[in-house]
Amino acid sequence: MTNPETLQNRPIGVFDSGVGGLTVVRALMERLPLEHLIYYGDTARVPYGVKSRATIETYSAQIVEYLLAQRVKALVIACNTIAAVAGDSIRAQARGLPVLDVITAGAQAALQTSQNHHIAVIATNTTVNSNAYARAIHAHDPQARVQSQACPLLVPLVEEGWLEHDVTRLTVREYLKPILADDADTLVLGCTHYPLLKPLLREEAPRLALVDSATTTAAHTAQALTAAGLLRQSGDSAHYRYCVSDIPLRFRAIGERFLGRSIDDLETVRLG
Ligand code: DGL
Repeated sequence: MTNPETLQNRPIGVFDSGVGGLTVVRALMERLPLEHLIYYGDTARVPYGVKSRATIETYSAQIVEYLLAQRVKALVIACNTIAAVAGDSIRAQARGLPVLDVITAGAQAALQTSQNHHIAVIATNTTVNSNAYARAIHAHDPQARVQSQACPLLVPLVEEGWLEHDVTRLTVREYLKPILADDADTLVLGCTHYPLLKPLLREEAPRLALVDSATTTAAHTAQALTAAGLLRQSGDSAHYRYCVSDIPLRFRAIGERFLGRSIDDLETVRLG
């Protein structure tokens, strides 16, 4: 018979196209400090935000297979682009485990935040083209207006660490023009990298309420684990394992900026 205590002690598998999903890991550590986490970042094949649905589905299936083999108790899709185009296939693959994702969580948080039902979303090209945020929002509120803006230049600027740089400010200003010209009251940060730009975005768009899908995903994960009786409630301190498909130059420095703490247990795991 399966020992429920063993199930609770299994790690949560969190994954992303690269380093950006560490913003979700950080939120999970804060919200669920007792949970063991295993992170997979596909750093050898990032970015996903400009790739086709078929390619993203193939890559994601390989990551999920790996995490299932690590005996995770739940999966968290920390990448907006993966959630946008491969969420359904991942759920079909997950053998009934809880699967949480940044788009479902971000859409629900946006609906709770918006007063005028006009929500703006900034994200990668693939996420915007998939229309996934609009679908997730309309599933709960068909009357809501969703305005999406692809911001492909922001991912490299954040990875460069230019969080307050003039180049980033001008880029953000340009991307936000159509949004600020209209009357949305809420801005969803629909990409793993954007939470790091919150201070700059607050300055450039002071009338927009910012929705950070990392924190809402952590809250959803807490709810799902509680509902499934899978929450780890006691025991020694949590263990964090980081797996990446490549360790590029400056990975640790960039990763630690996203995570807000040191990355200790780092290993290379190649897939495919
Ligand atoms: N993680 C991706 C996202 O949240 C951004 C980086 C990429 O394009 O792979 O959409």
